Amino acid sequence: MAIAEPAHASADEAVVHLLLSPDGRADPYPTYRWLLEHAPVHRSGFGPMWFLSRYEDCRSVLRDPHLVQPSTVLPGDPEPGAAVESQTMLFGPRRTRESPVATRSLLRLNPPDHTRLRGLVSRGFTPRRVEALRPAIEAMTDELLDAMAASGEVDVLDVLAFPLPVKVIGELVGVPPEDRDAFRPLVRTAASGLEPGLTDEQLAEVGRAADELQAYFRDLIATRRRDPRDDLTSVLLTAHDEADRLTEDEMVATLILVFAAGFETTTNLIGNGLVTLLRNPDELARLRADPGLTPLAVEELLRYESPVQFDARRAAEPTEVAGRVVETGEWVMTFLGAANRDPAVWDDPDTFRITARDTPVLSFGSGIHYCLGASLARLEGQVVFRRLLERFAHLELVEETPAWRNTFVLRGLDRLPVRVSVA
Ligand code: HEM
Repeated sequence: MAIAEPAHASADEAVVHLLLSPDGRADPYPTYRWLLEHAPVHRSGFGPMWFLSRYEDCRSVLRDPHLVQPSTVLPGDPEPGAAVESQTMLFGPRRTRESPVATRSLLRLNPPDHTRLRGLVSRGFTPRRVEALRPAIEAMTDELLDAMAASGEVDVLDVLAFPLPVKVIGELVGVPPEDRDAFRPLVRTAASGLEPGLTDEQLAEVGRAADELQAYFRDLIATRRRDPRDDLTSVLLTAHDEADRLTEDEMVATLILVFAAGFETTTNLIGNGLVTLLRNPDELARLRADPGLTPLAVEELLRYESPVQFDARRAAEPTEVAGRVVETGEWVMTFLGAANRDPAVWDDPDTFRITARDTPVLSFGSGIHYCLGASLARLEGQVVFRRLLERFAHLELVEETPAWRNTFVLRGLDRLPVRVSVA
């Protein structure tokens, strides 16, 4: 499918449209296509930032050991607490001050600290542990679908896409059911810290949400220390008590990351996925006719409407990227959503087509920070789409135009009203 290409006056104008305008956020794909054609390797005029769109470039950046997590303090950085002026135009008045807990998150660390912590946390995500969740995920899905069947018209985000991943990650981490619902606004606010263009006030809200999450998980750790269960919190406590121990800050950071990453993104996989299937009835019909296609369908949904659109690194030393030299401290931004539609690697990239493809999607990143929950997210996606189509013979969008949230990094819908019937 060909998509209309917008006329951008410059690559910076395209980037601003993409990151900050509601239209660019709602439909980033025409602008990605423009960038892929006109400025796939773009050094911004706003500051020392590079923006990359091609699949191979993005993948290499995420795998390059000289390009580190953006929160890393590098030579020449301003004092902690100072605003990073060069980014203010695009990313709002970010501060370099961080709480000690936030700096211990896997997403913020580089080797060797990252290697050590990831090794310990991975014990909670072995293929055996994830596969063992399948029957529980199926049962939880069926229970939610029963409730859906009882009403003819539902907001799929409220009744399925949000509650399922929260239940699953809640079970895995050990967050009691009665506490889970309160996390939706809290995690949403904390995760909004990833978005560009935040005001001081919004950043303060992000900080308050993070403090509340930290207090909650410190309490949970104390409870499990007294009364261990078969959950990730207890597994981390065991790792904590062995020779190569996790500090309490590391445990808190890990639980917050896993819990938050475990549902905001998966909610969007289910929501973005369902809206895509309903807007592509021929592919939906193929999937209904052959449920064995479900794993391929989930990969294609991840490619076509990636729940995470953007990932960033900074150069720890002068580094060659896509034939150019990125200097120490400069930022390198990768548009994962563009890479997933790069015509150099994908056939007919703007068409949603359930088919075996040779290239792995970039939706879970690449390299040492590759998503720890990828197999869990895939499992949830596969169970949901399979059960949903088995249960409902008719699924129909109530609104013609999808209601995308006004966010860029985490792409998802505000609501997804759908009419369902079993007959
Ligand atoms: C469709 C759903 C998901 C998507 C699209 C997604 C996407 C990503 C991406 C792009 C990264 C890499 C970030 C970077 O390179 O800096 C990442 C990392 C991570 N994800 Fe996910 N994720 C999903 C679901 C999950 C789930 C279900 C969990 C937990 C159970 C999870 C836990 C993590 C963790 C802990 C990391 C950090 C890994 C590290 O830094 O070593 N994610 N995810």
